[in-house]
Amino acid sequence: MVDVILGLQWGDEGKGKIVDYFAKDYDLIARFQGGPNAGHTLYVADQKIVLHQIPSGVFHQNTVNLIGNGVVLDPVTLRREADSVAKFGVDLKKNLFISERTNVILPTHRALDKAAELAKGNDKIGSTLKGIGPAYMDKTGRNAIRVGDLLHKSFTTNYIKLRLKHQRLLDNYNFQEDITAWEEDFFDALDFLRSLNIVNGEYFINDRISKGQKVLAEGAQGSMLDIDFGTFPFVTSSNTISAGVCNGLGVAPQKIREVIGVSKAYCTRVGGGPFPTELEDATGEELRKIGNEFGATTGRPRRCGWMDLVALRFANMINGVTQMVITKADVLDKFDDLQVCTKYKINGEETDQVPFQMTWNKIEPMYQQFKGWKMDSSVLKSESELPEAMTTYMQFLNAHSGAPVRYISNGPGRDQIVKIEG
Ligand code: IMP
Ligand code: MG
Repeated sequence: MVDVILGLQWGDEGKGKIVDYFAKDYDLIARFQGGPNAGHTLYVADQKIVLHQIPSGVFHQNTVNLIGNGVVLDPVTLRREADSVAKFGVDLKKNLFISERTNVILPTHRALDKAAELAKGNDKIGSTLKGIGPAYMDKTGRNAIRVGDLLHKSFTTNYIKLRLKHQRLLDNYNFQEDITAWEEDFFDALDFLRSLNIVNGEYFINDRISKGQKVLAEGAQGSMLDIDFGTFPFVTSSNTISAGVCNGLGVAPQKIREVIGVSKAYCTRVGGGPFPTELEDATGEELRKIGNEFGATTGRPRRCGWMDLVALRFANMINGVTQMVITKADVLDKFDDLQVCTKYKINGEETDQVPFQMTWNKIEPMYQQFKGWKMDSSVLKSESELPEAMTTYMQFLNAHSGAPVRYISNGPGRDQIVKIEG
C-alpha cells in the first residue's frame, strides 16, 4: 500500500521533517511532483540539510528512494545534492532510482522562467525561477526530454531542436543573459545522472507494492499551490494534491491508504498571490522572526498570518486527508491570543468555502479567538503534558477541519513530535 505525506497550505509546512520521521517505517519513499522549487529541511545528527530534488528518505539505511515520472528533474541540482549527502555517507548510486518518464529541466527552461516572470511585471507569480513552469509546459506541449531519452542516441539532436525553439521564445522576450555556463554545468551533470539507476518507475513501484512493501509518497509545495485547486494563477505547475500520486507515480487510487496532511499551526506563503489571513503588522513580523520564516530555496522572507480553517477544510476535502500533523506549534508559544479564521467575508457575504477566484475581491477573514498557552512547548513529549490552551486550540482544528489532528510537531528536532491518540 501507499501512504502519502503532503502539504495542506502554501508549502513549507515542514514536510521534510515529517517524511524523515516516518521514513523508517517504509521500504520506499517516492517524490511524485514538483522539482527543485521545493526545499525540504531536515536535521541529521544536529546538522541542517535542505533537500530540493531527492526524496527526504535518503538518510535511512533500509529505504530506497524514487524520483517519479510526475517530477521535473534538474540534473545540476541533483548532482550538487548528491555531493552534499555524500558527506553523510549516502550513496545515491545505491539508494536512489529515477523514472525513465521523469521530465528533465533544461538550462533554457530556467532562462524562460526568468524571462516570463520579468515580462509579467507587477503581476509576477514569485516563481522560484528554477524552470518549473516552462518544464511542465514542455510536458503538456509534448516537447519534453525525459530521463530515459538521455540514454538514446537521438538525445543530442532532440536537445538542439528544443534549444532552438526555446531560443526563439527567449528572443521574443528579448532575454539577453548568457547561459553558456549553465549549459556547461548541465552537460557535466548529465553524465552523473546517466550513471544513476534509471528505471521503469511504474513497474518498479507496483512490483514492490504487490510484494507487500510499504511505500511513502512525498509531496512538495502545498495544496493551495496546486495547479487546479490552488490560488490560480499564483500556483506552481503540478498537481500537489493526493490525486497527483496516481499520475505522478503510476499507482492506482485503491492503493492509497493513509493521506497524512501537514499544516503549520499558522500560515505562511512565499511569493505573490492571495493570502486572506496575512498579517502585515508587528504580529506577522513576530511570527516570521520566531518561526524563522525565510524560504529554504530562495531565502525570501515568507509572508505570515493566522491559521486559515476555510483553506484547511478545503485542502482536507480535496486530498481525502485521514490524519493531520500540525507543525511549528512552538512558534505560537509567546502569543497572548491566537486567531483562527473560520469564515471569509466577500462583498459583505459570509462563506465557509474557498472561492474559485481569490483575487477579484478582497477576502476579509472572520476570526475566532483562542487563548495562547504561554509556555515553552518545545519540551513537551506526550499528549498528557499539553497545556489546556493548546489542547483547546488543537481540538478546535480537529472538530472543524474535516480531519483529525494526530501529531503535533513542537520543534525542528527529529524527536520533537507529540502523538495525539484522539
Ligand atoms: P514555481 O513553482 O517556482 O513556479 O513557483 C510558483 C509559486 O509557488 C511561487 O509563489 C513560489 O514561491 C511557490 N513555491 C514553489 N515551490 C514552493 C515550495 O516548495 N514552498 C513554498 N512555495 C513554493
Ligand atoms: Mg519548503
